[in-house]
This record gives sequence, C-alpha cells and structure tokens, in this order.
Amino acid sequence: MRRTFHIETYGCQMNKCDSELMALSMAGAGFDPADGDAADIRIFNTCSVRAHAEDRALANMRAAQAAIRERDGIIVLAGCMAQRIGAGLAGSAAHIVVGPYQTPDIGRIVRDHLDAGAGAVHLSQEPARLATRINPENIGDADGTPWHKWLTITHGCENFCAYCIVPAVRGPLVSFPSAEIIDYAKRLADHGVIELTLLGQNVNQYGQDSGDISFARLLASISEIDGIRRVNFLTSHPKDFTDDIIETMRDHLAITRAIHLPMQSGSDRILGLMNRRYTVDAYRSLVDRIRAALVDCAISTDLIVGFPGETDAEFRDTLDAVESIGFDDAFMYAYSPREGTAAHALAESITREEKIARLNELIALQRAIGRTRLAVRAGATEVVIVERVSKKSDDEVMGKTALNHPVVLPGGAGDIGAVLRVRIEGVRGNTLYGERVE
Ligand code: SAM
Ligand code: SF4
Ligand code: F3S
Repeated sequence: MRRTFHIETYGCQMNKCDSELMALSMAGAGFDPADGDAADIRIFNTCSVRAHAEDRALANMRAAQAAIRERDGIIVLAGCMAQRIGAGLAGSAAHIVVGPYQTPDIGRIVRDHLDAGAGAVHLSQEPARLATRINPENIGDADGTPWHKWLTITHGCENFCAYCIVPAVRGPLVSFPSAEIIDYAKRLADHGVIELTLLGQNVNQYGQDSGDISFARLLASISEIDGIRRVNFLTSHPKDFTDDIIETMRDHLAITRAIHLPMQSGSDRILGLMNRRYTVDAYRSLVDRIRAALVDCAISTDLIVGFPGETDAEFRDTLDAVESIGFDDAFMYAYSPREGTAAHALAESITREEKIARLNELIALQRAIGRTRLAVRAGATEVVIVERVSKKSDDEVMGKTALNHPVVLPGGAGDIGAVLRVRIEGVRGNTLYGERVE
C-alpha cells in the first residue's frame, strides 16, 4: 500500500517555498499527500527565529506522536530547527531530521530510511549537499496558486545581525546561477505563471558570492519575460538596497511597488548593537529616494522591541521613526534571545511584561498609520491579481494590488488568477474594496 505524508510549515516564505519542493520530492518518491492525522509521514518544516516558533512546532510534534504510533508511521523534523537542535531530537521527538540544505531532497531521504534503514540525521552544511531550490520538475503542477510561484534565488545569509539565528542554521550566502533562474522563470511563464516572488534572506546581495549578475539585473531580466505580469521580492536589507535597484523598479512596471525593508529599530545605538550597518538617517534617505523615484509605492518593515539594553528613550525613537516614515505595514516582534547569536551574551534590561507593553504600544501606533495609508488609495485605479474567493461571501473575490494591499471586489471562482483593473472605492477594516473597470 502507498504511504501518505503531510507537511506542516512554520517560519518565513523561504520555508513555504521549501515545503512546496518537499511535497514534489515526496510525490516523486512515491508518497501521496494526506491531511494531518491521516498521514503516515508527518513532516514539520520548522523555524528557529524566535523561541515561540520552536515551542509551537515541538508541541505539535508531541501531539502527533499517538496517531503516528497507531499508523506505524514516522515524524520528520525538517528545516531550521532540525539544523539547530535536531541531532538531539533524532530518535526521541522525531524519527528523521533533515536540515535546510537537504529539505528539497526529502523524498529520497525518507524512502531510503523506510526501505533500507538508511541514516536518520541529515544536517550537512557542505555546499555540495545544498539541494537546488530551482526544481525543473516544479513546472505546471496544479497547486493552490497556479499563477504564482515562489522562486528562491539565494540560500543562507552572512550578515550576522546580532539577534538572528538564520546565518547559523542556513549557512553562508549561496546564489543560485542566474542562467538557471531565468530559464526556469521563462518555463514557468510558458506554463501560465504570471507572478513570481524572488526569495532570499537578503536578495539585494544576489551574486556577491559567485560573481554573477547583480540583483538589479536579475530583477530586470525576470520582469522582461513574456507573460510575467508581476515580480515581487523578499527580503531587502537597507544597507544593500542600491540605486540601481530603484532605477530598475522605476523602469519596469511589472516589478512590484511593495518593498519590504526591515528597519528593526529607530535608534542608531541599538542598530549599531544589532550590527545592521546603517543609521536611521541613512534608512530615511533610502525611503525618500525610493518614494521620489516610484511615486506610488508601499514600504513595509520589520521591527524588534526590547533588544538587550534598549532604553525607554530608544524605544520612543523607534515610535518616532515609525510615525514620521509612515509604513504601510510592519511585522513587529518582542526580542527573543537565541543561543548561538552575538546578542545572546548581552544582558536583557527589561522584563517580559515591559517588552510586551512596548510591543503593544508600537502595534497600536502602526495599526493607525497603516489604516491612514490604506485610506488614501480610495479613488485610485489599481492593477489587481485575484487570489481567492472571499471568505465572507461567494460573490466576492480577494486580490492584491501592486502595492501588496488586499482588495475585495465582486467576482467568483472563475476570476482566480485574473489580472484586473480595479477602481478603489474605500476601506473595510484592513482591506480595500473596489469595482473592476474595463
Ligand atoms: N533576512 C530578513 C532581514 O534581514 O530582515 C529577515 C530575517 S528574519 C527571518 C525576519 C524578522 O524576524 C527579522 O527581520 C527580525 O525583525 C525578526 N527577528 C529575527 N530574529 C529575532 C529575534 N531573535 N527576536 C525577535 N525577532 C527576531
Ligand atoms: Fe538575519 Fe540579518 Fe541575515 Fe536577515 S540579514 S537573515 S536579520 S542575519
Ligand atoms: Fe525561520 Fe529559518 Fe525562515 S529560522 S524565518 S524558517 S530561514
């Protein structure tokens, strides 16, 4: 009898992309997809960025044990947490552990383990073991979003921001060859994909390790492919967001107008301790240059509160920067100490409650700003890619504008994947609503 698998994904978009590749790899190795407890092989594609993400994955792995025993199945710990602490969990919480270098090769690893009793621990970080994220088999498969594909262009990161575990678990920067990426993007376009999201922890550094073309050139080449209507990219680092990227965006309308540009803090002293290698003024000046060149654009960010030693005045500097810059959106986090990072050695100066109070104050401020930024879109006509039928009504669909704002408009299942011009009428909660125009 064919055995079944289920993948649960935590963490960033790079993990979402890896999970898609893992599903293909598992199918290629002769396993069939199934829902949660009905699966024989439960794969947890995990994240280590904050303690909470790890705790959640561990709790869910524990909860899966009984069903897995009953089915004589196995639990696979994959992704960043596998790399960080998997060696100690193999044989107890998980039957197999597979680090991020090998996750796209997981089908073969599981098959070899089940059929031939091959090893349980796969945590090599040797470049030679880095299974490519550009999988030529991943063409035209009917996943939930056939018009959109994630496309990982770099693996790893060597910026060593003081709080961040990613360089430890994902290893150094490795750029996949541009010729392969562009060829793959063309083949995706030939199969009806109209939207791509280029992924990397710092996509702006593309090519620096390999001497390949710059990120700006790669972005231009992909956005010029026939049939590609929108190219998104994540994540940018302010220190590497060079003017040629801004110019390329200005000159290529298929490139998103939504830029995710983590600022992390509004205090120069804290940015220095974080090893971010820019100042608040440099960040502001970059935002000004982007806004001047692109006119219509949305800038979102990541912010951490309660970094070790952050004073109340330094936290207020973050609030001031958030208010004066006016972000369209922000992902905001309470600092979580991670063993193996530089900041782990720094003493925390505030209590958990104080950290949460700062976080809540920041979230409230950003919510109000986000609503104002959204409201000014009323009256504009935007290009919307429809993603799904609305959860609230079968007669409405939800899509995203080039500024990555969600929009609800009248429509049905037949509109999914369509590119429509939509006149924005107003805001409902955190979502725009509008009417299509011919
Ligand atoms: N590479 C991206 C960058 O440079 O911003 C994203 C890195 S991380 C996957 C996503 C976000 O998680 C970071 O931008 C940061 O705000 C947050 N983060 C990372 N480590 C953290 C920690 N130890 N505690 C709290 N938040 C953290
Ligand atoms: Fe982490 Fe910094 Fe690398 Fe982003 S750039 S993944 S925050 S070390
Ligand atoms: Fe988490 Fe790994 Fe992404 S630590 S944020 S899943 S790179």
